[in-house]
Amino acid sequence: MNSARRKILRVLSGETLTPPPIWLMRQAGRYLPEYRQTRAKAGSFLDLCYSPEHAVEVTMQPIRRYGFDAAIMFSDILVIPDALNRNVLYTEGHGPEMDPIDEAGIFALKADGVLQHLAPVMETVRRLRGELPDETTLLGFCGAPWTVATYMIAGHGTPDQAPARLFAYRYPKAFEHLLMLLAEISAAYLVAQIDAGADAVQIFDSWAGVLGEQEFEAFAIKPVARIIASVKAQRPHARIIAFAKGAGYQLKTYRQKTGADAIGLDWSVPLAFAKELQREGPVQGNLDPMRVVAGGKPLEDGIDDILQQLGHGPLIFNLGHGITPQADPANVTALVERVRGWKG
Ligand code: CP3
Repeated sequence: MNSARRKILRVLSGETLTPPPIWLMRQAGRYLPEYRQTRAKAGSFLDLCYSPEHAVEVTMQPIRRYGFDAAIMFSDILVIPDALNRNVLYTEGHGPEMDPIDEAGIFALKADGVLQHLAPVMETVRRLRGELPDETTLLGFCGAPWTVATYMIAGHGTPDQAPARLFAYRYPKAFEHLLMLLAEISAAYLVAQIDAGADAVQIFDSWAGVLGEQEFEAFAIKPVARIIASVKAQRPHARIIAFAKGAGYQLKTYRQKTGADAIGLDWSVPLAFAKELQREGPVQGNLDPMRVVAGGKPLEDGIDDILQQLGHGPLIFNLGHGITPQADPANVTALVERVRGWKG
């Protein structure tokens, strides 16, 4: 393995590269016609996640098209509730659904067997390392306990995660138990991904932004810090990116309190504040995915602002959240070319 050539790993260790390396959250997905083709062949969405053959194929598609500096293994954050027997289903137009969990259900959850259920994901990672160019970083991931718990409690996505927020006030013991169980499972899952060949991992806390101050400490920081401490105790060389979407000012202490090597920034983070955060270590982000849909000048201006403000420090260029299905693949080509053409 020649990981010294992997640019994203170099930035994760604190180096500044000009131009910065780039990958995009949700880079494998419905905006690509070749994804839709494989998706149709694979059966259900979970069949795709658990088929190493098809999952490798869709992971490789954006690498072949754009030559991104990282590939992210194709799976979903909700394979953990699926492995916990919550009957996860992805239906066209509805997003993910599962059996909503209650207090008794939480105390009845059993963590054993989860990694066995997820063995196909580790097989995907192993095969990917063999297929990827040597210089491409391979990323694993999991959802943060808070974000995964919001879906488990509501049974589906909601605009503001009111069901999980309410549940946490009403049943604090059960909720704490759920978060700590998810943290323990997630740490073991990330270690397994690293052992299978992932160079670094990202923890997605997509719903961190709906939490109040005390809840952010208890539900976003504490479980993520626990995962990172556990992974780093077991695999000291592991590199970890933590993405707390919508966390705003709370990001000021997020890196230090969680122990993450890099922090992901959504597009609402002002670049002056992002620059301040970058003094403490690498940052990743933070182009508005709608600029990729818009294309043209809005896309170019958004890219240039990020490069000018953050390009002189350790930066992994990315979007501020996942690319959306309506993005034109040609705009992604323009994005990659503009970032790669930056001379500093
Ligand atoms: O390319 C990659 O980034 C890797 C694959 C990946 C997926 N989901 C594939 C996917 C990753 C890293 C995720 C993370 C994920 N999944 C998050 C965290 C990041 C974020 O976007 O907030 C969350 C909250 C989920 C849960 C989830 N999965 C939702 C809410 C949905 C429905 C919304 C949608 O985009 O359809 C999914 C489905 C999903 N996960 C799709 C893909 C490509 C689309 C499903 C399909 O192909 O039919």
